[in-house]
Amino acid sequence: MVEQLPKVLISEEEIAGRIAELGAQITEDFKGKNLLMVSVLKGSVVFMSDLMRAINLPLRIDFMSVSSYGSGVKTSGVVKILQDLDHPIEGYDLLIVEDILDSGVTLGYLTGILRSRNPNSIKLVTLLDKPERRQVEVETDYVGFTIPDEFVVGYGLDFDEQYRNLPYVGVLNAI
Ligand code: IMP
Ligand code: MG
Repeated sequence: MVEQLPKVLISEEEIAGRIAELGAQITEDFKGKNLLMVSVLKGSVVFMSDLMRAINLPLRIDFMSVSSYGSGVKTSGVVKILQDLDHPIEGYDLLIVEDILDSGVTLGYLTGILRSRNPNSIKLVTLLDKPERRQVEVETDYVGFTIPDEFVVGYGLDFDEQYRNLPYVGVLNAI
């Protein structure tokens, strides 16, 4: 049987257009700053690689990997650092890059940890925002798209580590 492709929610073209806008805005906002983009692995790598090329400024990048304890759709509220940044962040203006803001648990925890390391400033960009599912208030500075409470895959986002390579954001039919 041929595997069914996820239904398109946000097309490749729409994503590219929005990233161009976000890149232009971020370029304005970070002029004269010491920009360090922090990508939260693995979901944000595709967004990160497109967004960084839409920003017309000198910048550095780093990666961090976190996971919430427990599995499935319910987040437990406890987050573990699996891979930390390579360098201290004092003196940098951070832009945290996330794929999706869902319950807010991951980003709430992450911004707390990073803030305690005394960077100049912290801003947050997420490609997708699912506000209906929020448990922890997180202030976002830039949002690509606000989406309804549906499980999405593609453009970095996975279901069971699959679909990250889809060029668009789609909805799986049979979850
Ligand atoms: P939060 O801590 O609940 O905000 O969860 C954020 C993380 O959950 C994201 O970085 C994703 O890895 C994952 N996630 C949340 N919603 C979705 C979805 O619709 N599709 C794929 N992954 C998701
Ligand atoms: Mg994931």
